[in-house]
Amino acid sequence: MMKDMLTEIDHVAIAVNDLESAIAWYQEVFGATVAHRERVESDGVEEALLAVADSYVQLLTPIRDDSPVAKYLANKGEGLHHVGYRVDDCAAALQSVKDAGGRVIDEAPRPGSRGTTVAFVHPKTSFGTLIELVQE
Ligand code: CO
Repeated sequence: MMKDMLTEIDHVAIAVNDLESAIAWYQEVFGATVAHRERVESDGVEEALLAVADSYVQLLTPIRDDSPVAKYLANKGEGLHHVGYRVDDCAAALQSVKDAGGRVIDEAPRPGSRGTTVAFVHPKTSFGTLIELVQE
């Protein structure tokens, strides 16, 4: 049997229209702490990571109209956008998806936020959920 490549939930990403309001809500209602904020120009998003034990809730908002998150919000509205699974080896996990005949969004691992290495798996392959493979 193959070794389990998914070592932890890295983050659950939620697309929001107003990042500041969403952060304020988590802080006021749950006392949540912002562990990290970043604008990821290449993805056209701004994100805030709220610490939940060793994982994060990632609040995501578009910074450009052509960002995939902008399209998501326009089509589906606010809500769960993707699940980030922590892996030891992003390239190996991505290859495993391809070997199983799965569709990927990133053909090769690329830089993500917080200095991570990431790759996305197409939701058509992964039962309707966009998956991000995250290597720290
Ligand atoms: Co993510």
